[in-house]
Amino acid sequence: MCGIVGYLGKQQAAPILLEGLKRLEYRGYDSCGLAVLRKKNKIQAFKSVGRISELEKKIGNKKLIGFIGCGHTRWATHGAPTEKNAHPHSDCQGKIWLVHNGIIENYQELKNKLEKLGHKFKSQTDTEVLAHLIEEEQKKEKKLEEAVISALKKARGTFGLVVISGNEPNKMVAARQSSPLLIGVGSGEYLVASDASAIVTHTKKVVYLDDGEIGVINGDGLRILNLDNREVAKKIQEIDWNIEKVQKEGYAHFMLKEIFEQPSALENSLRGRVIEEEGLAKLGGIEGVENKLKKIDRLIIVACGTAYLAGQVGEYMLEEYAGIPTEVEYASEFRYRKPILNKKTALLCISQSGETADTLAALQEAKRKGAMTLGIVNVVGSSIARQTDAGIYNHIGPEIGVASTKAFTSQLCVLALLTLFLARQRQMSYVMGQRIAREIKQMPELTKQVLAESSKIRKLAKKYCAFEDFFFLGRKYNFPIAIEGALKLKEVSYIHAEGYGAGEMKHGPIALVGKDFVTFALAPQDSVYHKMISNIQEIKARQGPLIALTTKGNNEIKKMTRDIIYIPKTIEMLTPILSVIPLQLFAYYAALFRRCDIDKPKNLAKSVTVE
Ligand code: AGP
Ligand code: GLU
Repeated sequence: MCGIVGYLGKQQAAPILLEGLKRLEYRGYDSCGLAVLRKKNKIQAFKSVGRISELEKKIGNKKLIGFIGCGHTRWATHGAPTEKNAHPHSDCQGKIWLVHNGIIENYQELKNKLEKLGHKFKSQTDTEVLAHLIEEEQKKEKKLEEAVISALKKARGTFGLVVISGNEPNKMVAARQSSPLLIGVGSGEYLVASDASAIVTHTKKVVYLDDGEIGVINGDGLRILNLDNREVAKKIQEIDWNIEKVQKEGYAHFMLKEIFEQPSALENSLRGRVIEEEGLAKLGGIEGVENKLKKIDRLIIVACGTAYLAGQVGEYMLEEYAGIPTEVEYASEFRYRKPILNKKTALLCISQSGETADTLAALQEAKRKGAMTLGIVNVVGSSIARQTDAGIYNHIGPEIGVASTKAFTSQLCVLALLTLFLARQRQMSYVMGQRIAREIKQMPELTKQVLAESSKIRKLAKKYCAFEDFFFLGRKYNFPIAIEGALKLKEVSYIHAEGYGAGEMKHGPIALVGKDFVTFALAPQDSVYHKMISNIQEIKARQGPLIALTTKGNNEIKKMTRDIIYIPKTIEMLTPILSVIPLQLFAYYAALFRRCDIDKPKNLAKSVTVE
């Protein structure tokens, strides 16, 4: 979600921090900063909005002297990407400085308590509470590492953390909980970073921190503690990767990395938001408009591309479970129509980048007509996020690959949470709410099970990648997934593919079916399974090559094709989160075998900020 670098050694820290941050910029790049400890109680800090180059301009030729420091390139989750919210953050005295990767879930309650104790906050971030917590703990005469441990025991959430202090000018403390952090062991110097790309040019010897471990670095060396302040033995490992591979954490492409990141991405999207015991969804970003949402009687979803298809799945969810009439519009069409909106209509924009020109224009058109506007956005502080009345962030970190994958499944999860939120405001019972909440919580684990089938999907892609024409067929919740599967294949492998509602085949498209036209049929055992079986029979009757996706344990389809992909059982409204992953992998591997430029497909851009 962001990039962290720390340095303690014999060289000037600032240039090493800047070089490291540049190598981590792909992890998040909305703002950045660094702090260098010149001598006891003298810490210099610089921050800027935007890329590292902006920070370098800000530092200019100022002398940043010091052998210890920490730096951060931010992917905002709490507080817009402003200079004030950029890391490092400090305590009241400006003695303790820290950089953080992750989310402190209970930051608001901690902040309220600290403000009552007289602490003054300078930013809107969750991170800053850690600096004041450590300050509070150090009033009890604790060493820096002891104060960090005590503070972290009070915080709930995820962190990769580097802390320096003017009170102890020859020490750096690093801590990890769910956000990656490793320590490079050089000759008489140490680096701490979010991934090895910021370290590998200085040393290949690293210690990977595990959850609940704290690294204490000073002139005498490195100690690793656990949260009980007990020393932990860790072995020094050797990095055998080059820089490029390291940024992709060993994956060949960002797209593949992001496909396999989906379990952890969904964990981040769901973190603190599923209240199973009450059968509720807790969505802080829309609580401010909760009462207005009770009154809406129509929802229009606007988006583009893959985000639009997420909205189409959302339409089924919202109508079936929340009972709200919902329509999904291409933003590029909506903005030129004469939409009928009123005060009881809500417009929901779905956008990973939050900058898609057509979606932003549709939002502005709806605001002109007085509709309430909501957003499901990944980039904090993006235009759409700032211009909607309220919204829900995905919290999945930057999506680098042009083909959207983890953002899509996150959007589906957030739509399921929104459905639960709205449904429980309306007719949905506590018991049904609990059932849905329980199933939503299963999604990270079940996506792991789907990803475990990747080698089988790779074989299927190899078998079919020479074909030039595909149908993707689905019904109901999997109709939009059929279109998404076709879009993924088109986008990255340049194979012609069309997604269709299976019921439509006999109204024309089936004329194309034959031995050179492959059909990928999505047939999980749901309310329309038997209809899908009939469609599959129609394809077989015309010698169409067939790949089928169905629910684990279903042996019926074996009679129709040997090329079957199985997904775990879940409730119907959540199957799209599982059924899309094999299609993402199929598209990826087909593109790989066709030697396409997977992360940067021809004619495409990651964020379409033009009409
Ligand atoms: C999907 O793989 C494409 N990258 C594209 O269709 C994308 O979903 C669309 O441009 C919308 O982008 P947004 O989510 O950033 O608004
Ligand atoms: N939650 C912190 C913030 O919003 C850290 C975000 C990150 O990991 O970059 O500043």
